[in-house]
Amino acid sequence: MELQKNPTILAIESSCDDTAAAVMRDGVLLSNVTAQQVVHRHYGGVVPELASRQHLKHILPVVETALQDAGVAVEGLSAIACTRGPGLMGSLLVGVSFAKGLALSLDIPLIEVHHMQAHVLAHFIEEPTPSFPFLCLTVSGGHTQIVLVRDYLDMEMIGSTRDDAAGEAFDKTGKMLGLPYPSGPLIDKYAAQGERKYVFPRPQVPGLDFSFSGLKTAIRYFLRDQMARDETFIQRELPHICASVQATIIEILIEKLEAAAKHTGIREISVAGGVSANSGLRAALEVAATDHSWRTYVPRIQYCTDNAAMIAMAGHYKYLAGEFAGLDMAPDARMGF
Ligand code: KG4
Ligand code: ZN
Repeated sequence: MELQKNPTILAIESSCDDTAAAVMRDGVLLSNVTAQQVVHRHYGGVVPELASRQHLKHILPVVETALQDAGVAVEGLSAIACTRGPGLMGSLLVGVSFAKGLALSLDIPLIEVHHMQAHVLAHFIEEPTPSFPFLCLTVSGGHTQIVLVRDYLDMEMIGSTRDDAAGEAFDKTGKMLGLPYPSGPLIDKYAAQGERKYVFPRPQVPGLDFSFSGLKTAIRYFLRDQMARDETFIQRELPHICASVQATIIEILIEKLEAAAKHTGIREISVAGGVSANSGLRAALEVAATDHSWRTYVPRIQYCTDNAAMIAMAGHYKYLAGEFAGLDMAPDARMGF
């Protein structure tokens, strides 16, 4: 197999509830398409069986649109990259099987991508890009991690959640408040109209690890007690509840990020993953940056939430490094770092 200097990569992402495809040539994004699934809205979370069925429905049109938008024919592709894990098994299977079939039929290499490493590499889709080494707080619906990034493909997880992810804390709070899934963006919106009126306990977790399950329980009991007294409490106080919960989650995140920066001496700080879209978190990051002379990086929102452009970016660096997968590659729902 002869490797190309300016590879054209088709990337597929299907780890959770978004079916996405992107085309990248020589590290430059040519197209980026995402089909979002709305079927989960009323279930308070992603229903795995529904997600994989939707992926099956969406994958071909999403890939065709990505190729069309890029003006690239399948014959012009150098490799196919896809998310191997972590994620939902049934969802990953659709993307991995599709990628394998296409790579086999075109006789081009297959590249497996770790979803969380791709969230980190989303920082290289557009300028300005962080310099190595940098710290990346990756906060999504499934993960909350602090990653020490030494190079494009050399990363170490130095802190992670022991239970729920930050996005889950937003989504589960939203469910208790009667908001549709995913609730993070709605809590963000209501929080902007409210004030931090209520105090929730912050977990005492040593080191750089996180915990959000205690906060979830505290919110549940708080709402139960308030609603017992006044059943219009949530309706009346929604912006203040959202502002209070959001501020607590942000404080937990920023506190650990500050500890990680202090511990490593690194002041190049980035945030990735769906929760980095949160306006309160972005503002708190700016304050911390001024306090500690950090340079901070947050990708544009479309590259923060699940997308295939970040998979293409990871695929690009893996192609250049000659890191290819065999056709026997299987999805790995709990893929380690
Ligand atoms: O990265 P992502 O799109 O998917 C996963 O890999 O999990 O992250 C989705 C998560 C959801 O929990 C969603 O509620 C949260 O990101 N999210 C937000 C905001 N936008 C998305 N959380 C808080 N504020 C937001 N603006
Ligand atoms: Zn994600």
